[in-house]
Amino acid sequence: MRITVIGGGYVGLTTGVCFAHLGNEVMVVEKIPQKVELLKKGRSPIYEPGLEELLQENLREGRIHFTTDLREGLEFSHVIFICVGTPQKPDGSADLSQVEEVARETAKLMKSYKLLIEKSTVPVNTHKLIKRTVQRYLKDPNIPYDVASNPEFLREGSAIEDFLKPDRIVVGVESQRAKEIFEKLYKDFDCPIIYTDPATAELIKHASNSFLAMKISFINMVADLCEKTGADVKLVADGMGYDKRIGRAFLNAGIGYGGSCFPKDVKAFIRMAQDYGLNFGLLREVERINQERPAKFVEKLKKVLWSLKDKKIALWGLSFKPNTDDIREAPSIKVAELLIKENALLSLYDPKAMENFKLLFPEGKQINYAKDPYSAVEGASALLILTEWEEFVKADLGKVKELMELPIILDGRNIYEPQEVKALGFEYYPTGR
Ligand code: UGA
Repeated sequence: MRITVIGGGYVGLTTGVCFAHLGNEVMVVEKIPQKVELLKKGRSPIYEPGLEELLQENLREGRIHFTTDLREGLEFSHVIFICVGTPQKPDGSADLSQVEEVARETAKLMKSYKLLIEKSTVPVNTHKLIKRTVQRYLKDPNIPYDVASNPEFLREGSAIEDFLKPDRIVVGVESQRAKEIFEKLYKDFDCPIIYTDPATAELIKHASNSFLAMKISFINMVADLCEKTGADVKLVADGMGYDKRIGRAFLNAGIGYGGSCFPKDVKAFIRMAQDYGLNFGLLREVERINQERPAKFVEKLKKVLWSLKDKKIALWGLSFKPNTDDIREAPSIKVAELLIKENALLSLYDPKAMENFKLLFPEGKQINYAKDPYSAVEGASALLILTEWEEFVKADLGKVKELMELPIILDGRNIYEPQEVKALGFEYYPTGR
């Protein structure tokens, strides 16, 4: 099939590259010319395992094309995926101006049937606003079109795998014509495909992200309780997780969730409920618990070290999760801010995210970026683990101990077994264990 993807960000690029990989012909419309130039050369503007290789392969096969021109994108195909950003406004609601712009500009250029598909996360009933906008700007009001919701559930760091092997596909459609296009598009996917109305599809996405965030905040509170009582949160999560109704996933306690989705989506969900006259107080607590995590972590460090002033503190992991260079809403940002306030000296290391972090925290008197995990810990009074990169899981802790001034580890991601680390002579403070 021929497919047009509007927006070459995380979701758009993965969607485009993966559909091309499945044998479709894809045109990605991206506004930023520099990005298009980069993509045409087979370079990915974001770090995502496997993405660049797949991009290059499909460029070679001639199955993926890039343009800045919306008109070209619309002439290419009648299947249009809207993958533009839906960032957060200061009041917590979703900023849908990019979605509105795509709907408006598409309508002005439309000459024949189009299926407009929302893939970005949007508040429930956004499809109605898209339809109203398209209808208003159409040159000829008789040109047929459909608006559908087909939310994406991929995670950063495992985007390709998640796209190609999803747990389920959700499609919200209003016409048989649109439904048949999706049936063709997803015919080779071996997972449940749920056909429903667009409002339900939109809600499934938002509710799923909010629910997962709730699981994380829940287990983080249980972790705090474990620390007070001597129980082990990892085993509590295992014990709970065997219950099929609960499931073990997203019950890893730690320093809290970050990224471009959960913090924003939980806020937008609360806000949206409020707009419909409902107080989703449960999610306000989820958010509050999460916002407290970095401060609680730094408090713990202060208890361990007494004063942080002029002490070298090593930070391993700056991205909001492993296998990405993304630092949006990463807990590391708040931890770094709090440590700077305490006049600590920060020694930072991350396999991929240091360049992005430098934009927020330039190198200086209090901030130093290390070339590898070992030089980061040299002379440090404590090591804080903020992201569970494989490189840290496999690190030579014997070497780390020799290099540090004090062998103290605070683990915000529970990557080590307490007995093993303690046996090496470390003072080890995991989360909730
Ligand atoms: C999330 C969802 O998992 C995807 O299904 C969804 O498509 C995506 O948002 C989106 O809406 O675009 P993502 O933000 O890439 O994906 O990353 P996750 O793997 O969900 O992790 C989010 C945060 O939660 C990370 O900071 C992670 O460290 C944290 N987390 C996750 C925990 O603290 N504990 C856990 O048990 C799991």
